Amino acid sequence: MKKALEFLNGDQMPIVGLGTWKSAPGEVYAAVREAIRIGYRHIDCAMFYGNEVEIGNALRDAISEGQVTRKELWITSKLWGSDHGRDNVEGALRKSLRDIGLDYLDLYQIHWPIPLKPGVGLPSSGADFLSTAEAPIHATWEGMEAAVIAGLTRHIGVSNFSVKKLRDLISHCKIKPEVNQVEMHPLLQQTELVTFCATQGIHITAWSPLGSTDRPDFLKSPNAPTLLDNPVIHTIAQLKGCTPAQVLIAWHVNRGISTIPKSVNPSRLRENLAAAEIMLSPADMEQIAGLDQNYRFIDGASIWVIEGSPWTLQTIWDAP
Ligand code: A2P
Repeated sequence: MKKALEFLNGDQMPIVGLGTWKSAPGEVYAAVREAIRIGYRHIDCAMFYGNEVEIGNALRDAISEGQVTRKELWITSKLWGSDHGRDNVEGALRKSLRDIGLDYLDLYQIHWPIPLKPGVGLPSSGADFLSTAEAPIHATWEGMEAAVIAGLTRHIGVSNFSVKKLRDLISHCKIKPEVNQVEMHPLLQQTELVTFCATQGIHITAWSPLGSTDRPDFLKSPNAPTLLDNPVIHTIAQLKGCTPAQVLIAWHVNRGISTIPKSVNPSRLRENLAAAEIMLSPADMEQIAGLDQNYRFIDGASIWVIEGSPWTLQTIWDAP
């Protein structure tokens, strides 16, 4: 099984990384220090998570104490919608670099394909959005390409992009997106996207691999399933002598997909990293394939499809 996903220039992104969305200030320093101590080398960040300074402190201390070198780390960050636009990318990327305390990122991704007015965090009305005519993705992408040329990031990618949006972007770009980071787990297997990305040489990183049970209430639907309680996953875990979370992580690794489970708990951090070693049999994979329901824990409706928004679930995901 792959331990890392390789890029055209030979760079390697470790297949299991540490997710930091929802890792609270006051917790994330210790989580990143422990993660690096036990062998994590891939840390997934974003300006919007509001914790890049603390993550940066942990990286700085781990490096200065000789636990790891910058070169051994894979650090990702993401461009928020309020910084879309060709001329805004560099400033936003430089802010993340300052906050994290680095002079380059390994990967910078457009966080969502949804442009917002400058200064907006989460939109509170239709007036907070920019239209895609005002801020076309291909113009933002030109800013991303310029950041590679300026040496601010080694690789660029996107997040939460459908096949249709990837196709549109690819038809306009000079540097292809190298990664698409999307919600993915056995209830949302996205086989069409996986096949498309494979044919285009685009890696996938799966977010919410464990079903993000700690997501904020406004992102919870009343009857949402709990992935970690799924009986098929439990049976496989029991037979393998591992935990349900490990089966969920190993499923991605067995598909050649990178994943970024979030934890701030030392024993779960260890458990999640060790899942990269668990081989699932073709029969296990077939059983898990049967769980697909095209179910999103976070479809974005409560963030993006608000009164006056130009977006619908159809236009975000380009699928029913
Ligand atoms: P904690 O940070 O206390 O470990 P996701 O990565 O899908 O967003 O899920 C993150 C949620 O899953 C967090 O609530 C996290 O809690 C929890 N979690 C992380 N690792 C495990 C694990 N191995 N077993 C059970 N829950 C886990």
